[in-house]
Amino acid sequence: MTKKISIIGAGMTGATTAHWLAEREIADLVLVDIMEGMPQGKALDLAEAMPIINKDVKVVGTNSYADTKGSDIVIITAGLPRKPGMSRDDLLTANAEIVSKAAVETLKYSPDAYYIVLTNPLDTMAYLTLKKTGLPRNRVVGQAGVLDSTRMRAFVAMETGVSVENISCYVLGGHGDEMVPLTRHSNIAGVPLRDYLPADRLEAIVQRTRKGGGEIVNLLKTGSAFYAPAAACAQMAEAILKDKKLIVPAAAYMQGEYGLNDIYFGVPVMLGANGVEKIIEYNLDDDEKAELEKSAAAVKDTHEALKSLVNM
Ligand code: APR
Repeated sequence: MTKKISIIGAGMTGATTAHWLAEREIADLVLVDIMEGMPQGKALDLAEAMPIINKDVKVVGTNSYADTKGSDIVIITAGLPRKPGMSRDDLLTANAEIVSKAAVETLKYSPDAYYIVLTNPLDTMAYLTLKKTGLPRNRVVGQAGVLDSTRMRAFVAMETGVSVENISCYVLGGHGDEMVPLTRHSNIAGVPLRDYLPADRLEAIVQRTRKGGGEIVNLLKTGSAFYAPAAACAQMAEAILKDKKLIVPAAAYMQGEYGLNDIYFGVPVMLGANGVEKIIEYNLDDDEKAELEKSAAAVKDTHEALKSLVNM
């Protein structure tokens, strides 16, 4: 492979991201973790699966950032996951230090890399990565909107029995309980969700989407979701490496879009060879605008909490 993706954090989301990426056969992979032996063991195990799925992907596990040298993409998943009863913001103090180090160390070895951030609290960890690396905003993107939207698509498919391929959903806003599932823009084969589903069923799907991460945390009890978050990261990395110009909701740095400034926030972005190539501004009605403002205020609070913790 001529392309290289380094995944920082070889835990549940990191290793599963490697798994999804290996199946796509788009880049060699490096798994970095602080735990000795663990990334090496997972990488070897994954490498040993490649002959079965006929993919020529090299997978390396390491405790050294030097092995990430020359990465095209760095995916940051290192950090603590939630436990039942915790909000994503409760992870701020612990994860800020971990993500700062991951961002700074990887940039030393891969000055041209694009960054995809997955660690929670997502929007604020993407903001931290941007500030710590000093990169232009197109080079740092946060994952969450792809995840929140796939959850909504899955719930609509479960409700209607229609193929997931026919279901398009767009969830904007911060990656927290105030996220904004846009029911007016979401559709089943072109038919607006609002016309397809009774209002009470649609509202139930909206609420379940908002709390989708928490639902899984409560079931797992010892960690948070990893299959869907990891699949979201893999799709975003592929869009960048293949210059797909894929429009997905993701956390991007706002400079006036949607009336927001100096904040990472979930909006529709176009992902291509230059990372976040465009931020797309939807026409929103007053209710949608009000919901986004509420979500932005929550994200801004976490950004402020970060600034009081970390020197940026
Ligand atoms: N450098 C590298 N890896 C680290 C560091 C560090 N400084 N600190 C912790 N890690 C590693 C841990 O050793 C662990 O293997 O990060 C990994 C995290 O994996 P899990 O505990 O399995 O957590 P995971 O489910 O992958 O979630 C990671 O992503 O979705 C978010 O909320 C989630 O913030 C959490 C992050």
